[in-house]
Amino acid sequence: MERIVYLNGEYLAESAAKISVFDRGFLFADAVYEVTAVLDGKLIDHEGHLARLERSSKELGIKMPVTGDELMDIQRQLIEKNGLVEGGIYLQLTRGDEGDRDFSYSDEIAPTLVLFTQSRSLIESPKTQTGIKVISFDDIRWRRRDIKTTSLLPACMAKHAAHAAGAEDVWLIEDGFVTEGGSSNAYIVTDDNVLVTRPLSNDILHGITRASLMALAKEMNLTIEERLFTIDEAYQAKEAFISSATTFVWPVVAIDDKPIGSGKPGELALKLRDIYIKTARELAV
Ligand code: PDD
Repeated sequence: MERIVYLNGEYLAESAAKISVFDRGFLFADAVYEVTAVLDGKLIDHEGHLARLERSSKELGIKMPVTGDELMDIQRQLIEKNGLVEGGIYLQLTRGDEGDRDFSYSDEIAPTLVLFTQSRSLIESPKTQTGIKVISFDDIRWRRRDIKTTSLLPACMAKHAAHAAGAEDVWLIEDGFVTEGGSSNAYIVTDDNVLVTRPLSNDILHGITRASLMALAKEMNLTIEERLFTIDEAYQAKEAFISSATTFVWPVVAIDDKPIGSGKPGELALKLRDIYIKTARELAV
């Protein structure tokens, strides 16, 4: 059965939703996006995703065509129309279409807003039991990784290389330090149980799951160090894991074929995953 998707004010069957070949999202990746998890038919971390969307679009001067309340209503309608219980909502906001290809743009273009649902099992994920393998990979992205744009070719190439190497994902490296995962934030746990992750800057995406996890880790009185770490430090770590809206927390059990800790999903990673999911479900809207 076809999904019902949202395009510029209309709810349409996916095959009926059409975007111009001149849309700047298509021609220049002149677009921002968000992925929000859905559990029990409700939005997870909605406020955080909305705030980041507003920030990303503001940084690029792309106008938000709807208010936060309207966006919430659109997402709820999509969940209902598609009978979505578990999975996610993908949202993309492009600068729009000026009827031709031109690098420069006017500030008056009407943006394009698209949303669609993706039904997926998030809680019962086999990756939680097995953990994932990652490879280190050169971070060749631009210098505004804090803006969630759809310029994702470096991530696609990196993930493709990871799959070719028998791994699920990458940890990106810049100047010898881990920036983040291919589409996730990266963490290690040291032998003395310190949770280490890269501090927020323009070098990484400010993960919404990361923000919630850090708040929970603080409540749990964990020692947290927001600092740079090298891939060599990660090889020696007791645990490693990633976070994102599509994975919540997934343990990393090997980096560049070197087992991390016992080579099994880490205790703290699994604990944080459980607590995150429990809290996120309670706060879902
Ligand atoms: N990606 N870092 C990068 C580069 C990401 O693409 C993502 C999310 C994250 C985690 O952010 P959050 O916790 O807000 O999902 C970090 C989404 C899931 C994607 O592109 O599909």
